[in-house]
Amino acid sequence: MELGLDGKVAIVTGGARGIGESIVKGLAGEGVSVVIADIILDAAQELAKKLKREGARVLVVKTDVSRKADAENLVTATLKEFGRIDILVNAAGVVRDVKFIDIEEEEWDRVLDINAKSVYLVTRPVIPHMIAARSGKIINLSSRSGKEGQAGLAHYAASKFAVIGLTQALAKELAEYDINVNAVCPGILRTAMWEKILDARSERTGIPREQVFADVVATIPLKRPQEVTDIANVVLFLSSEVSRNITGESINVNGGGRMD
Ligand SMILES: NC(=O)c1ccc[n+]([C@@H]2O[C@H](COP(=O)([O-])OP(=O)(O)OC[C@H]3O[C@@H](n4cnc5c(N)ncnc54)[C@H](O)[C@@H]3O)[C@@H](O)[C@H]2O)c1
Repeated sequence: MELGLDGKVAIVTGGARGIGESIVKGLAGEGVSVVIADIILDAAQELAKKLKREGARVLVVKTDVSRKADAENLVTATLKEFGRIDILVNAAGVVRDVKFIDIEEEEWDRVLDINAKSVYLVTRPVIPHMIAARSGKIINLSSRSGKEGQAGLAHYAASKFAVIGLTQALAKELAEYDINVNAVCPGILRTAMWEKILDARSERTGIPREQVFADVVATIPLKRPQEVTDIANVVLFLSSEVSRNITGESINVNGGGRMD
């Protein structure tokens, strides 16, 4: 399938590692100029160096997606370097597995700000440029937790449900400009994020972490976790004109763990 992404310009938040890193690599491999927007500069620069050696056009902009000034600077820097923005992937996120009763207000705000408010903060300054171009693709990383809350992940679930609602509203608002807005909902991937969940669950329950993971995988019909490329492939598809009639969707990539 020809995606026709060569020459496009994309911003990927959370692009330094994990799912975001795989999306950056996938887009760069298709000839897209990619801006890696992440709070961890070393990993982002390392990735950029590697991709540039392979001939890709990559820019790193240190960004805390929960800060308005950083989001605005990200857009300004992208336009200065590449002149336009065709694709925005909001992949930055954090998790903490903790019982609801133990979530302090500061912790609640941190997770909601980084996972949900960030999508508002980063997307808002991008949109005028997509509207002017009368085209664009916005892809937000939600989660299986964006459709079904899990014990220990109350604030994470609240943030990921918010991302799906925002995705639907924005898809309706921006349809007249031919801008597609979709979400992707991964199930479980063994990135730094799930390693953190395993640590917390194992400590809380006394069950060895590998057993915790095996128990979760056992509930998945396909009996395996997802790989970062599974998610990146769907994001690439949603970034292209191949999916031009899909908007407002929240696509499950979870091995059948949840079907809707
Ligand atoms: N791993 C999973 O099983 C899973 C499942 C469902 C959804 N997701 C979602 O996928 C996305 C990527 O997750 P991942 O598994 O790759 O996690 P990860 O922890 O490996 O990567 C997250 C990235 O976001 C960056 N980030 C965190 N806070 C930031 C901030 N304030 N500003 C800018 N960047 C920031 C991190 O530095 C990191 O590079 C997240 O939105 C996550 O919620 C992951």
